[in-house]
Amino acid sequence: MSKKLFIETLGCAMNSRDSEHMIAQLREKEGYETTDDLKSADLIIINTCSVREKPVAKLFSELGVFNKNKKEGAKIGVCGCTASHLGDEIIRRAPYVSFVLGARNVSKITEVLHRDRAVEVDINYDESEFAFNDFRTSPYKAYINISIGCDKSCTYCIVPKTRGDEISIPAELILREAQRAVERGAKEVFLLGQNVNNYGRRFSGDHEKVNFTELLRRLSLIEGLERLRFTSPHPFHMDDEFIEEFAKNPKICKSMHMPLQSGSTKVLRDMKRGYSKEWFLERVEKLRSVCPDVSISTDIIVAFPGESDEDFEDSLDVMRRVRFEQIFSFKYSPRPETEAEHFTNVIDDDVASHRLTTVQNLNTDILDENNQTHLGKIYRVYFEDLNKDYHVSGRSDNNLVIKVKGSDELLGQFRDVKITQIGRTILTGEVVG
Ligand code: SAH
Ligand code: SF4
Ligand code: F3S
Repeated sequence: MSKKLFIETLGCAMNSRDSEHMIAQLREKEGYETTDDLKSADLIIINTCSVREKPVAKLFSELGVFNKNKKEGAKIGVCGCTASHLGDEIIRRAPYVSFVLGARNVSKITEVLHRDRAVEVDINYDESEFAFNDFRTSPYKAYINISIGCDKSCTYCIVPKTRGDEISIPAELILREAQRAVERGAKEVFLLGQNVNNYGRRFSGDHEKVNFTELLRRLSLIEGLERLRFTSPHPFHMDDEFIEEFAKNPKICKSMHMPLQSGSTKVLRDMKRGYSKEWFLERVEKLRSVCPDVSISTDIIVAFPGESDEDFEDSLDVMRRVRFEQIFSFKYSPRPETEAEHFTNVIDDDVASHRLTTVQNLNTDILDENNQTHLGKIYRVYFEDLNKDYHVSGRSDNNLVIKVKGSDELLGQFRDVKITQIGRTILTGEVVG
């Protein structure tokens, strides 16, 4: 009988891909199969995120619950970004934890498993050419890492301290991985990195210098690959060549994540984002002029230290002008080992909460207005999920989530769908072609 692995994944898409990598190694080398039942697991892994304070606080209470409910003899491993920055403190605070494995060390999973209280959290460890075994949660869409780490030093962000310096994965490895995923049935490839359009700046060995635009071009030549998506691009690296390739390449989905963070040039400077409000707006204008159908999403942080009412108004102003299709908004959370942790002009929490609500309300108003424009329109949908209520859902090229009545026969298929009903996050439609 195979051993059972229970794995919980928090955080971003890169963490999801890291979990797939760990599952792949544990299946191939150790004979594990995944389970949703904590009590029957021989190995429990929590793949953590530390981008904001809340998830870190939750970690230790969750570990306590795992320890209480686990099967006798089962091991618990803490992996991911919080593992990177807390290291052996995790074992000091929760001595029943068997190993701690940092975000950039997941290839060592089968090794730490057999060492008592192993702590492997080196953020300079280079996994950029490691040949992971193959495992994908979805047969329809393949997540592929194109770089590890992050070279930016945004003053609020802990990621460079948990994932280390940026190293690009050689283009030939990415192309080979994409080709293999497509041969196995995936029609969509989703490229991952903290800074995808900075791709190609540094490789760990001697490799052909390919930039992100060229990588997209080469990937789109793969036969059978129908859709290309990526996250996250950085607004600073959105040059004309990239925007034009994005617009004219039919395989690149017309949905762009442009993380604004703040609409105030002063706050952007304090955040060390490398662009101004005007520059961001100009890039949006350029993008929309060459690609009118693009849907743009963003991330906004409210109440960064020193953010005045006028600064905050600038964020709302950018929201009103751009009318983003989707916004992920966060209250600023001070993080250890970041520059902003030492900033003293902290914003009162009541003000921060009020600003967050204001952003969210404005976002909802814009969303509701945008959504009305979809009624009666026809979108090409790639179906990926079977829902319990006899519905199948998928995404349009411009990233709308759309569901129709149907069965698993639609999974992995493209269909034209006419929108008949508007919801805030999901649109409903019927297949027309
Ligand atoms: N590499 C991506 C971001 C990764 S982190 C980029 O540059 O866009 C995902 C999001 O979390 C960020 O875009 C930011 O909006 C938010 N975030 C990061 N650090 C934060 C902090 N200390 N407090 C609040 N939000 C934060
Ligand atoms: Fe963090 Fe900035 Fe790097 Fe994004 S680009 S991961 S926000 S340091
Ligand atoms: Fe979280 Fe690490 Fe991703 S901090 S957002 S899991 S890079």
